[in-house]
Amino acid sequence: MWAVLALLFALSSGALSLDKLNMCMDAKHHKIEPGPEGKLYSQCAPWRDNACCMANTTEGAHNDSSYLYNFNWEHCGPMSDQCKKHFIQDTCFYECSPHLGPWIQKADEGWRKQRILDVPLCKEDCESWWEDCKNDFTCKTNWHKGWDWSTGFNRCPKDSKCRNWTEVYPTPKSMCEQIWSNSYLYTTHIKSTGRCMQLWFTGENPNRKVAEYYIKNAQQRQTVAPTILLFLAATSFSGMMY
Ligand SMILES: *[C@@H]1O[C@H](CO)[C@@H](O)[C@H](O)[C@H]1NC(C)=O
Ligand SMILES: *[C@@H]1O[C@H](CO)[C@@H](O)[C@H](O)[C@H]1NC(C)=O
Repeated sequence: MWAVLALLFALSSGALSLDKLNMCMDAKHHKIEPGPEGKLYSQCAPWRDNACCMANTTEGAHNDSSYLYNFNWEHCGPMSDQCKKHFIQDTCFYECSPHLGPWIQKADEGWRKQRILDVPLCKEDCESWWEDCKNDFTCKTNWHKGWDWSTGFNRCPKDSKCRNWTEVYPTPKSMCEQIWSNSYLYTTHIKSTGRCMQLWFTGENPNRKVAEYYIKNAQQRQTVAPTILLFLAATSFSGMMY
């Protein structure tokens, strides 16, 4: 009998949290529900089969001073094209991904109700981003906070100065984790392990399976304790019957 109870318990909690596998966060430009979007633009095209972004959002994602957020990547002069393509990809991933559920958290920000925290990025994607930006410049480590917005676009605050990338971000890890206040977590997992999220992919979205892995893993931790309690309750109950 206890086995049946435990199984029912595991099944019901499993069904609940698998909702997180395919969903959109409650933020500035996200759709309510993910779904096909045939016209996603350029670097955002890999998400066409199932996306949280609309086509117009993905055009905005390719814009230097993106009208999505009035955010200027070129706050320390022109950004190299090789660096910029990673910021475009980062924006596509953030706006379009339907599989960020396990890392969505409440946000205490006026412009969005939810954010992502510690999304485990694949080592290759974080490292190539940093490599390609190594010769660029910025004045801030955390690009979410502390800008001068007086002109409507972000400008470097007075007490900062433009420095080369490697001075601001000594390592790929420091860049990936600090630039968007820990939205991303640096990992040593490579893409083929299926244990990390890919900013760059072609074909079927590989991140669904990754999210599924993290959901199931978190669930196991949550179900072990209740299952032991059920086991104890059930064994003492059956002990009484003998
Ligand atoms: C995209 O279009 C929708 C309407 O179809 C509109 O509500 C939304 O504000 C537009 N987004 C951007 C970023 O322009
Ligand atoms: C970056 O700046 C530091 C400190 O000014 C300097 O030592 C280093 O050589 C610079 N690196 C590059 C790649 O220009």
